[in-house]
Amino acid sequence: MPKEEILEAVASEVKVCVKCGLWRTRKNAVPGEGNPNAEIMFVGEAPGYWEDVKGRPFVGAAGKFLDMLSVEAGLSRSEVFIGNVLKCRPPGNREPLPSEIQTCTPYLDRQIKAIAPKLIVTLGNHSTAYIFSRAGLPFNGITQTRGKFYQVNVLGLFVTVFPTFHPAAGLYSAKYKQQLIEDFRLLKTKIHEMGLMVG
Ligand code: URA
Ligand code: SF4
Repeated sequence: MPKEEILEAVASEVKVCVKCGLWRTRKNAVPGEGNPNAEIMFVGEAPGYWEDVKGRPFVGAAGKFLDMLSVEAGLSRSEVFIGNVLKCRPPGNREPLPSEIQTCTPYLDRQIKAIAPKLIVTLGNHSTAYIFSRAGLPFNGITQTRGKFYQVNVLGLFVTVFPTFHPAAGLYSAKYKQQLIEDFRLLKTKIHEMGLMVG
């Protein structure tokens, strides 16, 4: 099946999914979106308030900051695919439960396999923990892990993984904001080194 069709199939299933309890409180599921031919994928945690309202990833304040960070890396939204570990908003933006992650991530796995990105940028603790578990790597928290490139095998694909803080962290902490900016500058260098499709 062409990747566009796989991604559309995943999105249609997600929109009506009732596999975990989060469907009861969501307004809209957020399947994720972007360029099916992207070589770079961003993986966030879960929809927040505005994502739930609009059914689209990273459209709130954290999303505005992510757009700014992407510019720092020389990227625009049309060049990447943006997905989340959970496709529905946890009430009050609480942290995802392990059972919700286990139930929802087959959707993310199918998206990753369809897109087969060369580079995955994991945004925050949960996203990095999930991808590291899939890669069979030990995860010692985002602070220890961030800002470095990891050559891994995820779901049978050879991928470079780049963990950084969740962009929302940069909205409440000047220190995290600065470190996010530095990480996205490093990312820009790496994208050029790897000769990835940009522009
Ligand atoms: N935070 C996330 O992790 N994902 C979104 O889509 C929006 C905010
Ligand atoms: Fe389904 Fe995932 Fe939404 Fe739970 S969070 S209802 S598993 S799409």
